[in-house]
Amino acid sequence: MVQLNFDYLEIETLTDPSPREIRQIGAIAENAFQRFGHYRDFIASLVSKQGVITGLLVDRSEDDRIVGFLLLGLFPEDGKFIADVLAIALLRMYRGVGLGKDLMEWAFALLNNISLRKRISEVRLTVAPDNERAVRLFTRYGFSFDRESDLGTYPSGVKAVYMKRTLPPEPLLHDEK
Ligand SMILES: CC(C)(COP(=O)(O)OP(=O)(O)OC[C@H]1O[C@@H](n2cnc3c(N)ncnc32)[C@H](O)[C@@H]1OP(=O)(O)O)[C@@H](O)C(=O)NCCC(=O)NCCS
Repeated sequence: MVQLNFDYLEIETLTDPSPREIRQIGAIAENAFQRFGHYRDFIASLVSKQGVITGLLVDRSEDDRIVGFLLLGLFPEDGKFIADVLAIALLRMYRGVGLGKDLMEWAFALLNNISLRKRISEVRLTVAPDNERAVRLFTRYGFSFDRESDLGTYPSGVKAVYMKRTLPPEPLLHDEK
């Protein structure tokens, strides 16, 4: 297995995406989400959409290649905002070593910052319940399954469900402290 050099991996916020960056993001999405359908064009189109902020994991030792991304949507609803982790994916050789957590850290640092100015009531996302690694990652960040909403399936027929959490997390009841 190829050794990753963590000194060369950096997370940055995408501004003004270039065709090369959009191409790389689309290629990662097509590969990472193939179980769910064809996501190359859909994810590539989301990157430039109003209200979507993209975090990139870049490998400086590989000619600044994009090796992972997280797309965060911020949508107005009833005078507040709902945040949505629209997509998170890493190239295969970068998975399973904690880089998904780094992208989630980036997202929550951003959300905490934005929430100083805008009211964000909830953070949600869509996941296949059998995607154990993803569910585990999201559970770590305080998400739980939204039992009230049944989302149905991805285009491929794989079951999809919502997970959500509040921002900040639900306060502990005082006798739980
Ligand atoms: C989902 C994804 C972004 C997670 O990122 P990652 O860097 O691989 O995940 P991490 O290494 O941070 O591991 C996350 C958690 O899952 C655990 N985990 C790792 N491999 C696992 C496996 N095969 N099964 C179950 N849990 C696993 C880790 O131990 C960690 O839990 P912990 O914090 O309790 O130790 C990444 O695997 C990926 O790109 N997958 C393909 C695309 C995808 O499915 N995206 C999500 C769609 S909603």
